[in-house]
Amino acid sequence: MAASFRVAVAVTCALVLATACQGLQVGYYNKSCPRVEHIVRDEVKKFVYKNAGVGAGLIRMLFHDCFVQGCDGSVLLDPTPANPRPEKLSAPNFPSLRGFEVIDAAKDAVEKACPGTVSCADIIAFAARDAAYFLSRFYVKIDMPAGRLDGRVSNASEALDFLPPPVFNITGLVGSFAAKGLDAEDMVVLSGAHTIGRSHCSSFVPDRLAVPSDINASFANLLRRRCPANPTPGNDPTVNQDLVTPNALDNQYYKNVLAHKVLFTSDAALLTTPATARMVLDNANIPGWWEAKFKKAFVKMSQVEVKTGKQGEVRRNCRVVN
Ligand code: HEM
Ligand SMILES: *[C@@H]1O[C@H](CO)[C@@H](O)[C@H](O)[C@H]1NC(C)=O
Ligand SMILES: *[C@@H]1O[C@H](CO)[C@@H](O)[C@H](O)[C@H]1NC(C)=O
Ligand SMILES: *[C@@H]1O[C@H](CO)[C@@H](O)[C@H](O)[C@H]1NC(C)=O
Ligand SMILES: *[C@@H]1O[C@H](CO)[C@@H](O)[C@H](O)[C@H]1NC(C)=O
Repeated sequence: MAASFRVAVAVTCALVLATACQGLQVGYYNKSCPRVEHIVRDEVKKFVYKNAGVGAGLIRMLFHDCFVQGCDGSVLLDPTPANPRPEKLSAPNFPSLRGFEVIDAAKDAVEKACPGTVSCADIIAFAARDAAYFLSRFYVKIDMPAGRLDGRVSNASEALDFLPPPVFNITGLVGSFAAKGLDAEDMVVLSGAHTIGRSHCSSFVPDRLAVPSDINASFANLLRRRCPANPTPGNDPTVNQDLVTPNALDNQYYKNVLAHKVLFTSDAALLTTPATARMVLDNANIPGWWEAKFKKAFVKMSQVEVKTGKQGEVRRNCRVVN
């Protein structure tokens, strides 16, 4: 790389948000694939308008991709004889993670327009960003930097190592986000994604339905009616995370936390330190506050441990390494 170009990049980075500058750029495909962001958005729109839950799945997919091997599309890789246990088969992802068919459709459409140009990692980031846009009724609008490369490593055991389980307390949660360069406020703000989508009963039974519990008694009773006492793979229904506005990406999650009507120990844990409880209150009560913080934290999360240069490739098929 020419020294003058490096200097230009450094200067540009000094001028924009520090978080938008780990080698990624907004409009990265301006020249090489100018329509990519439109193409992905149209695919996401089709799927999300048919089933809002798929949009929730895409937002969660970005989180699960980024926390394991960085945001590199590793969560998309299918099992092979040489690698029978990729991330997507790990307990945090299988069978709950959804939206893979949207990524496949987007990748097919993008490959037709610009073969071999756009990484699967960037497609996940664009798709998650678009899902947030549609589910927030066009309120959460994010300029998504791009230029991520796809990884070649995907191991289920690493998903267990890095994805925080729903039984974590505040110490565990802060620690797992810190391990990815995200702070306690990022963690609180990103947990607000639990304002959409669903959970399988097995993710909170029996943990949250034991007595005594801090959970609202009538909410707990509702969950007891909807969930078996011992969920099994063959009998594991789902419930919505947010009973008030189940498909809206809004700040209702924080009102649910305050009302003790949330599914996970990790959600309730946000009230267990004064600093994080304060953030919950602000997110619940100040209009527009959470949405502004969410946009920043989302972009920050989308840049965790991204691969550039020789560390990755642009996969032709998102499910297999080249
Ligand atoms: C703070 C730590 C977190 C924990 C412990 C956690 C845990 C979980 C669990 C257990 C589920 C239910 C999965 C199922 O049984 O179907 C879930 C769902 C979900 N999570 Fe999280 N999560 C966390 C953070 C995040 C973050 C950072 C995001 C994205 C910004 C996110 C987005 C979602 C979404 C959208 C769903 C619904 C998915 C669907 O409907 O398919 N979560 N989470
Ligand atoms: C791509 O184009 C947009 C809109 O004109 C501009 O804001 C952005 O900085 C451009 N990015 C690159 C990397 O060229
Ligand atoms: C995945 O990680 C585990 C634990 O470190 C290791 O035993 C296993 O060999 C790895 N699998 C592959 C295919 O690299
Ligand atoms: C959080 O959980 C860890 C691991 O289970 C435990 O050692 C620790 O004491 C807990 N911390 C708090 C503040 O409850
Ligand atoms: C639990 O929720 C119910 C129904 O919304 C409400 O009437 C009740 O006051 C709540 N319980 C407590 C202890 O806040």
